[in-house]
Amino acid sequence: MCGIVGYVGSRSALDVVMAGLKRLEYRGYDSAGVAVPADGGLAAAKKAGKLLNLEKELTERPLPAGTTGIGHTRWATHGAPTDDNAHPHLDNAGRVAVVHNGIIENFAVLRAELAERGHELLSETDTEVVAHLLAEEFSVTADLAEAMRLVCRRLEGAFTLVAVHADEPGVVVGARRNSPLVVGVGEGEAFLASDVAAFIAHTRSAIELGQDQVVELRRDGVTVTGFDGSVADVRSYHVDWDAAAAEKGGHDYFMLKEIAEQPKAVADTLLGRVDASGALTLDEVRIPAAELREVDKVVIVACGTAFHAGLIAKYAVEHWARIPCEVEPASEFRYRDPILGSRSLVIAVSQSGETMDTLMALRHAREQGSKVLAICNTNGSTIPRESDAVLYTHAGPEVAVASTKAFLTQLVACYLVALYLAQVRGAKWADEIRAVVRDLARMPGEVERVLETMEPVRELARSLAGKDTVLFLGRHVGHPVALEGALKLKELAYMHAEGFAAGELKHGPIALVEEDLPVVVVVPSPRGRSVLHDKIVSNIQEIRARGARTIVIAEEGDETVAPYADHLVRVPVTPVLLQPLVATVPLQVFACELATARGNEVDQPRNLAKSVTVE
Ligand code: AGP
Repeated sequence: MCGIVGYVGSRSALDVVMAGLKRLEYRGYDSAGVAVPADGGLAAAKKAGKLLNLEKELTERPLPAGTTGIGHTRWATHGAPTDDNAHPHLDNAGRVAVVHNGIIENFAVLRAELAERGHELLSETDTEVVAHLLAEEFSVTADLAEAMRLVCRRLEGAFTLVAVHADEPGVVVGARRNSPLVVGVGEGEAFLASDVAAFIAHTRSAIELGQDQVVELRRDGVTVTGFDGSVADVRSYHVDWDAAAAEKGGHDYFMLKEIAEQPKAVADTLLGRVDASGALTLDEVRIPAAELREVDKVVIVACGTAFHAGLIAKYAVEHWARIPCEVEPASEFRYRDPILGSRSLVIAVSQSGETMDTLMALRHAREQGSKVLAICNTNGSTIPRESDAVLYTHAGPEVAVASTKAFLTQLVACYLVALYLAQVRGAKWADEIRAVVRDLARMPGEVERVLETMEPVRELARSLAGKDTVLFLGRHVGHPVALEGALKLKELAYMHAEGFAAGELKHGPIALVEEDLPVVVVVPSPRGRSVLHDKIVSNIQEIRARGARTIVIAEEGDETVAPYADHLVRVPVTPVLLQPLVATVPLQVFACELATARGNEVDQPRNLAKSVTVE
């Protein structure tokens, strides 16, 4: 949830670290800080608030030049976002500095022990205990990497730690457990970061770190060991995102760029997944077909928008593969004592691959003997590394906190998995699968068509900027779309927004309907279950009779709904199960435009972070 950068090489460490933190600010922006070994000592600066505040501080009070350094941008967990609680944290002698992402669960005990040994702790954070422990161990080992190994063995919880010591000015040491950390390797320089976006401007050669590992960076190389000191073998990989991909591409916000990238993201996620005969070939799903044929239950675990993708996937898995499918918020999953076994296939959906709730859910599933398949957008992240198999989405970097293109690619990946299950189990004939694959291949173009007709939606959004409530209704796969539309409006416009199954309206929520209340209704295709279409038309009439302002999302040619729509948003005709790929887009644009009209920060909404790496 925080952004971390470390550097050792021949450039200005401060320049590299600050540029890297700017690329990671979406991970949290409550405070920021840097530390640089220089002139035999350690220089540090840290400020509450956004990175801009730290930049001003460094302009007014520059740090000494150095070619080694670390930096941090924070999303507060322990301790308010203040200067004292900002990272990096130092020991009392000011000889070691450390930055941290995660939660050290036994920090209270460690804090009390340190105080008894005469250490003065100046902040409310869990992180600060590490600075003092490193100082103690370094006074014995005179080796920062060894000191880090000894300290990590005493910590409980999830952590990424990166530290420097005044006595080793050419060394940066990092460690990780249940929290992201990647290594960038350049010519005579090396980088550490929470996310490759921080260093891909300098190198695309990366090393992924495994669980409970310590990495030591020097100009002339990188050494990786376990917490026990054993030398670890490392896997290098090439980062195929280029620096430009992480820029805004001419849009005002990353979110607008990412909404616009959805046709390409959907197309890229489909690439290479069908062979010449039209059969699905999901190579990275390294679970043998024979095992997939034995699966008797699918359980999807995810959070937020990814959870909504799972809700839609349920319809596809049950309709195409004829396997029972449960969908559960990852944060609830392991506490309900789920019934799992070797024939359960658990699918963990995550854009970042670092969401702690989802990671802990998949761990629980594996402990129960279930196979876990990850659907993830971030190569080398923890969730795919800890799964039995992975199907990567290819949305490219999603920087805006509000997830858009990742969501559409999660839907595509879920459709592919459901179809693949149907294929290996013979639940669908090859020609039926080819027909769905052909429909999917049309979707990038259909999404593009929706994007070209969004101006009326933007005008509508601006006209509703003064409202304080919007309801969203849907049936069948339109119900999770309604939930997703409500979530987008909540997290961007800070408005009360709620999604309902339209059939639930008369069981209570219709009491909310009053004069001029905006209600968005996602209408299912009349070509599918026509009874569903008729029922939702009745729902629209019910709310209109009570004064609601109806905003209707309906497919082209559906004239039945027109008389009851105060605002009619057309989407292309698609197969019933694929409609979310086109029906979600107007809701993303609506929320983004309304938030902009209200003057909100779109890419980094208040209280939120892009990746929630604590439970
Ligand atoms: C959605 O717009 C939010 N950013 C949030 O709900 C997000 O989808 C959720 O935190 C899951 O993140 P993940 O996909 O990285 O696991």
